[in-house]
Amino acid sequence: PLVTSKEMFKKAYEGKYAIGAFNVNNMEIIQGIVEAAQEEKAPLILQVSAGARKYAKPLYLKKLVEAAVHDSGLPIVLHLDHGESFEICKSCIDDGFTSVMIDGSKYPFEENIELTKRVVDYAHERGVVVEAELGRLAGIEDAVKVSEQDALFTDPDEAVEFVERTGVDSLAIAIGTSHGAYKFKGEPKLDFERLEKISNMLPGFPIVLHGASSVPSEFVELCNKYGGQIPGAQGVPESMLRKAAEMGVCKINIDTDLRLAMTASVRKYLAENPSHFDPRQYLGPGRDAIKQMVIHKMRNVLGCSGKA
Ligand code: G3H
Ligand code: 13P
Ligand code: ZN
Ligand code: NA
Repeated sequence: PLVTSKEMFKKAYEGKYAIGAFNVNNMEIIQGIVEAAQEEKAPLILQVSAGARKYAKPLYLKKLVEAAVHDSGLPIVLHLDHGESFEICKSCIDDGFTSVMIDGSKYPFEENIELTKRVVDYAHERGVVVEAELGRLAGIEDAVKVSEQDALFTDPDEAVEFVERTGVDSLAIAIGTSHGAYKFKGEPKLDFERLEKISNMLPGFPIVLHGASSVPSEFVELCNKYGGQIPGAQGVPESMLRKAAEMGVCKINIDTDLRLAMTASVRKYLAENPSHFDPRQYLGPGRDAIKQMVIHKMRNVLGCSGKA
């Protein structure tokens, strides 16, 4: 069935692991992820961005996820990623999503609280859970001075006040991760002191890490070997994610690594089979590359294998 993340997060918090939240945009991506979760007996969050809804149409994604639930028999969370308004959150809640993110992180503190509270009230009346975000995601190297970094990263006292005043179910925080394939210019670094502080001040409360792809060099190299041009890509080291998962972090968002895995495999297939033109011939391996990537994450990074 489609479920909320309430129980998943509770177990993940106590068990010191994290649930993977994977972005989905089409059938092959959904199938690859769900096959992995089935094989690993892992809890699963499938998340849909505004861009995904635009690309695939909301109804297609909803029906594909429903098909995944029926076919796999797994409990799956259907989550809106980075909802930027009350309206898109409402639309997803009305459509049967079990979880939504309202991302008010670009607004001043009080406005973020007001917007988040409005979504929480609407969602909770309908049995849907809400994730919010406080602080700005930007690479630690982007902030030149400590004072600037301080302004960008999530303030622990504000986090506590935010959670209390909004009644939100989980909170995405900024500690140095960022979206995409170029997260760090130099040495990767996350502000674990800050994470620990926030975690300790919100005992039992699920924290979310966005921008948590690791951008494995073998996949970047594979893309580049077969005609790609993504030099200098760098992500969050897996050891850091494992450490975060042992603390209050219960949800780890991964999109870029799925994109890299699928694209590397499609590039390789097409380069090696120039006469093939049936999309199933390269999308099949693309789907399998997603599956293998997700299995690796569940087993070796998130620690959620066998926890469904
Ligand atoms: O947070 C961003 C996710 O990677 C989704 O990306 O907005 O291009 O679908 P997207
Ligand atoms: P990555 O770009 O690191 O995969 O982050 C995805 C994300 O945070 C989706 O909300
Ligand atoms: Zn994100
Ligand atoms: Na955890």
